[in-house]
This record gives sequence, structure tokens and C-alpha cells, in this order.
Amino acid sequence: MKSQYLITLCFVLTLPFPLSSTTNSYESSCHKKKFPALYVFGDSLIDCGNNNHLPSGGADYLPYGIDFMGGNTPTGRATNGKTVADFLAMHLGLPFVHPYLDLTNHQRNKIRTGINYASGGSGILPDTNNVTSLTLDKQIKFFHRTVKHNLHKMFNEKEKMEKHLSESLFFVSTGVNDYFHNGTFRGNKNLSLFLLNEFTLRIQRIYDLGARKFFVNNIPPAGCFPSKAIRERPRGNCDEKINKAISFYNRRLPEVLHELQSLLPGFSFVHADLFGFFKELRETGKSYGKKKSQMANQRAFESF
Ligand SMILES: *[C@@H]1O[C@H](CO)[C@@H](O)[C@H](O)[C@H]1NC(C)=O
Ligand SMILES: *[C@@H]1O[C@H](CO)[C@@H](O)[C@H](O)[C@H]1NC(C)=O
Ligand SMILES: *[C@@H]1O[C@H](CO)[C@@H](O)[C@H](O)[C@H]1NC(C)=O
Repeated sequence: MKSQYLITLCFVLTLPFPLSSTTNSYESSCHKKKFPALYVFGDSLIDCGNNNHLPSGGADYLPYGIDFMGGNTPTGRATNGKTVADFLAMHLGLPFVHPYLDLTNHQRNKIRTGINYASGGSGILPDTNNVTSLTLDKQIKFFHRTVKHNLHKMFNEKEKMEKHLSESLFFVSTGVNDYFHNGTFRGNKNLSLFLLNEFTLRIQRIYDLGARKFFVNNIPPAGCFPSKAIRERPRGNCDEKINKAISFYNRRLPEVLHELQSLLPGFSFVHADLFGFFKELRETGKSYGKKKSQMANQRAFESF
């Protein structure tokens, strides 16, 4: 996960948001504190412990977390190490973002550097894994609570809070789980169009609560996830039917975001090609030091 994608992040982050200084080198753009906070919404790519608080459980057992800061303890992240959100926080000079459900109300009243609402298994739609994960609607509801109860108190003045929110970065990475019902692929063009529309409505809701700067991942190539590729012939090939449906969504996502930009005053976004990154990683994995295109635990990719 480390190198290429994040270098792209740093590079890309300098483009749409104006830098306050005249320097635009990679180093300064990556280590400068331009964003007061990072708020995170999405699925297991970036969940960092919310699901541990759900009855169905989360990534709360080994080998999850074995490489996280040398701790060798599960951190609630569906990975051996850091998530993209962790790397993003590091590169922005922010502390790791805490999962909303880990925090007491007292702690929520004090955190000015962002909160993570993401939940493994969740999607864009309210009926996607709505028992075992926090739906995007629920995540937005929790963010609403943060704004109304915690940030409001912290900033005293409404203008100061609005400034904070408008300068913060909102990272959204979701959608892959909507293509599966109980593990079975259910995608078609209609679903993709429907998802794009539903996604837009929810981005708009986050905007309405004060967010202005968005960092949006497209959907990764789920057809290449080991749980799918293992069933292909020849074994290990990507399921292109799945990838095709996801590509249909991905091709239109930037247009949809541009439409939002023309519609909503102050809205700006970075669109990141997670799909392309995963495809490239699959093809050139060895150069990243990756030995096998397999993940440690079936659950990690079943509810991505
Ligand atoms: C949860 O999903 C099921 C279908 O999977 C749906 O019938 C139900 O209405 C959903 N619940 C909510 C609160 O959206
Ligand atoms: C979901 O899948 C599991 C096992 O794959 C099966 O036992 C269960 O009946 C399925 N549930 C639905 C609602 O299809
Ligand atoms: C897609 O939606 C259209 C109407 O919007 C409908 O006529 C068509 O049957 C749908 N196709 C699928 C595969 O669901």
C-alpha cells in the first residue's frame, strides 16, 4: 500500500487546493499542515476499529495488525499494517484518526483533527450489510452528531466551526460492497447508475453539514480479489464481469464529481484511481516487495 498510491496522493493534493505559499515541491506539499482535520467515511479499506464495537465484530484478531507500528496486536484495521487513511494522515502531518465508536463523548469534545466513521462491509446503499456494518447513512448521522454536539461546543462560534469544516479534508472510499449480495455478485449498468446517484446524494449531505474538500476513491477491482480470482479458470485470473460493472461506475464517477462541483459553491475534490492502483499492484506486485497476491485472512476480502 505504501509507495505509489501515496505519492500520487501527495502530488494530487497540491492540485485542486491552493497552496498558501509559493513553493510547490513534493516535500513541502506533503509535510505541510494544510488541513486542520481528516474525516473518514467508507468501508473496510479504511475502517480502523468501528466494527469492533458491533455485535458481529471486526478485525479484532491476529493476523490483523501484526505489522502496525510493531505492536503485533489487532487494531481493528482489516490489514496487517496501516490503511490508506493512516498514510494520508501521516502525509498531512495529522495524528492517526480515531474510530468514532472508540471515543467517549468527552473525547469527542476534544478532538480537532478528525474522526473516522468507516465500517468494514458497508456500502453506499442502506441495505448493504446493514446489520454487520455501519451504513454510509449511519456514518453521516454520526458525523452530524459530531458537528452538532462536539464541534459546536469546541469552537463556540459558528463561523469558526464552519471554517474548520470547510478547510478539513473528507476522505470517502466506498461502493464495492454494494455489488455483492451475501457474497454473490449482483452488478449491472442499472445498479452502477443507481449507485452513482445515491452516492451523489450522500456526498451532498456531507457537504450540507459543512464539508467542502473531498478526497474520493473509485471502486477497486473486486473481480481480482482473491476470493473471486480463486474461482476463475485459469485459477487466479480476475473475474472480468465484476470488473466491467465496476469500471462502468468508475468511468462516470469523475463526471459526477465535476457536476457536484458546478452545482455546489466551494465544493472541490480529488479523485483517486484506486482501481488502477490495485490493477497495477497486481501486475507489478513484486516491485513493491509483495510476494504473493493473497491476503492473510478470508474475511479480509469477503467484506472488503
Ligand atoms: C436492511 O437491509 C434489508 C435488506 O437487506 C432491508 O430490508 C432493510 O430495510 C434494511 N434496513 C434499513 C434500516 O435500511
Ligand atoms: C447467505 O450465504 C450463506 C452461506 O453462503 C447461506 O447460509 C445463507 O442462507 C445466505 N443468506 C441469504 C439471505 O441468502
Ligand atoms: C434497468 O432499468 C430500466 C429502467 O430504468 C429497466 O427497464 C430495465 O429492465 C433495467 N434492467 C435491469 C437489468 O435491471
